[in-house]
Formats: sequence, C-alpha cells, structure tokens
Amino acid sequence: MKKLLAAAAALAICCSVASCSEKKNDSQKTTSNTKKTIGIAMPSKELERWNNDGESLKSQFENAGYKVDLRFSENNADKQNEDIGGMLSDGVDLLLIAAVDGNTLSDTLAGAKDKNIPVVAYDRLIMNTDALTYYVSFDNLTVGKLQGEYVKNQLHLTSTTSEYNIEFVAGDEGDNNARYFYNGAYDVLKPFIDNGTLHIQSGKNTFEQVATLGWTTENAEKNMKATLASSYTGDTPIDIVLCANDSTALGVANALASDYKGSNTPIITGQDGDIANLKNIVDGKQSMTVYKNVHDEAAVAFGVCKQLLDGEIPTSKLAASFGDIKVNYDSESYNNGVRYVQSYLLVPYVITKDNLQLLVDTGFFKWDGENKYLEAAE
Ligand code: BGC
Repeated sequence: MKKLLAAAAALAICCSVASCSEKKNDSQKTTSNTKKTIGIAMPSKELERWNNDGESLKSQFENAGYKVDLRFSENNADKQNEDIGGMLSDGVDLLLIAAVDGNTLSDTLAGAKDKNIPVVAYDRLIMNTDALTYYVSFDNLTVGKLQGEYVKNQLHLTSTTSEYNIEFVAGDEGDNNARYFYNGAYDVLKPFIDNGTLHIQSGKNTFEQVATLGWTTENAEKNMKATLASSYTGDTPIDIVLCANDSTALGVANALASDYKGSNTPIITGQDGDIANLKNIVDGKQSMTVYKNVHDEAAVAFGVCKQLLDGEIPTSKLAASFGDIKVNYDSESYNNGVRYVQSYLLVPYVITKDNLQLLVDTGFFKWDGENKYLEAAE
C-alpha cells in the first residue's frame, strides 16, 4: 500500500515539477531523461539500510527514464572519493551522495562544481564544500530526542526516586549525523545526569569518548565489553545503553549476552528498524528503535533531484508536494562550514514491540509464518 503511495507521490512530484501540462511532452521527456545519468554513492552494503536506500533510489530514477550509476564504497572514504571521481569522469549529470566521511569530499566535489554538476547530500551532510546546495535527510536531532525521551518516559525520570546507570554508544565521528543523534539524546537526559538520577559509571560523557568507528556492530560490541569490564564489575547494574542506531545496538546486545553478569535487562535504544533488531525487540533484547522510512527518503531525494535535472530550483514549496510523506523544509539548521544548506527533513518515529504493526502497514515488512517476527516484504 505504502509502496503504491510512494510511487504515487513520486508521480505527483513529476507532475508538479514538470508543471504537468502535457501528455504530449511525455515522450520528449523520456528521451531527454534517458540521456541523463545519476551518480548515486552509498556508504556500504554492510548495513541493511543503505542497500534499501540504494535499491529504492535506483528504481525511482530508472522508472522515470534515467540511467543510474550506483556505487557502494565499502565504508571507505578513499574508495568513495575514487567512486565519485570515476562518476564525474564518466559524465554523470547529478550526484546524490550519502557520505562515508562527510569531511573528506571537498576536493572531489570541487570537480563537480567546475562542471556545474548538482550535488545533493543524502541522509548525511557533506561538510566544507560550496558544491552542495541541497540536503535530504530525516530530522537527525529528533532521532536522538526520541531515544532520550523513550528512556525518560520508561523510567519516569521526572518523578522517580530511584537512580540508574546509563552508558552512551554513539556513531562514527566522520558522520555529521552522529553528533546530532548524540546531542539530541544527551540534551533530553542531561538534567537527570546533573541531578544524580542517572549515573555514567564509565565517566564517558562526550561524543568523542563514545563514538563507534564505522558504526559497526563489531566495534560497538568490543567497546561495550571494555566498558562492562572496567565499570560494571561486582554487583553494579547497567540499566540503560543509549545506542545511536541498530548496528551498534546489536553489538551492545551481544556484549551484554556474553559478558554482563547482572540479572536485569537493560533498556537498549536503536535506530533504523533493521530486521535483526526487530527480532531482538520481540525477544526483549532491545527496547525500541527509531524508524526512518528510507523509501520515503528516497522519494523525496528523487523529487529534489528531478527538479534540479529539469533546470528548476527546489524551494520550500516542494516540501508540501510529497503526498502523505511529511517533509519539513529547513534552511537554518544545517551549516556545512561554508553555508546553511537547504534541507528537506523527514519525520522519524518510535517503534517498540507494541506497535510493530506500523511497520507492516508501510508495506515494506510482513509477519513471518508464525506471526511472531517481522521479515522484509518483497
Ligand atoms: C544514518 C543511520 C545509520 C547510520 C549508520 C547514519 O548516518 O542516518 O540511519 O544507522 O548512519 O550507517
């Protein structure tokens, strides 16, 4: 159902963007579109979400008659620079990039600017470049806030007389989003850290101290094991692990399963709605995830790129044209070190074991044969 809606929204965009005046122009449009190639750079195939983003973007552009050069960069910033350089030499007409490391692309993108190739940042902001004018993502601060508020509400932090131990697990330092997630969560919980309701036994309370290289499950597991060994020996319980996303939450759940001696089940947060984590949510090994519908994100990115390819200038008006996909236009929040980047921000929401059906309602998940776990609907 949602797939149909997303397709309808994409169509609606094509219409509004191409001013929809004509059946007669359809064939003309297809001819000119087929001449255009979109270079899509995704960080890695390792993470479930980037595969979904990549495939969703590819099919939207191809269905509209464009050629697509989709490359995954093995989570390696050098490889991504090479990939994008290769796309530019091959003559792509637009670049859509989810950066491995948003701080490393300036030189490569100067080449795009020289050739007047529009560059759109996908999900992660690209820093220190004037080649970038548009950014499509979710409201990253809200992702973190939702995680913090979940903990606050679950433990009734405003009224409780109990005290709890919490640890933070953040994302990769090269990902501009990671700080937003961390700050969003930390700001919600800071008053309770300050008033002694929450204790960080490890003492690690800065983003840099809790960042996870490459966002990988393995590094999160390794770091969590180290924290357990240093700070949760004896009968010190760990009550909450504020994990920035699902890949790190998986590592934390593994570390707790193997190395935690306490009898309580800590609250673990997450983000993305990866299948393995949804299973952990059913099994009580993870408490929540913040879901970001990447197919919707892809539809919005398509809408922005389509306007640019048609020589139009995306403005705040475009945000209202995505049907049931709620998008906020924001030109004041994301500064990439050169300028505020015009941003189209989608809205994330919380998933727990009690509302998994919402994911099924998106059309991208289905219940398994026993109606117990979710699987990808294909
Ligand atoms: C994305 C998250 C993802 C993380 C790790 C972030 O930039 O917004 O959805 O979990 O990267 O790939």
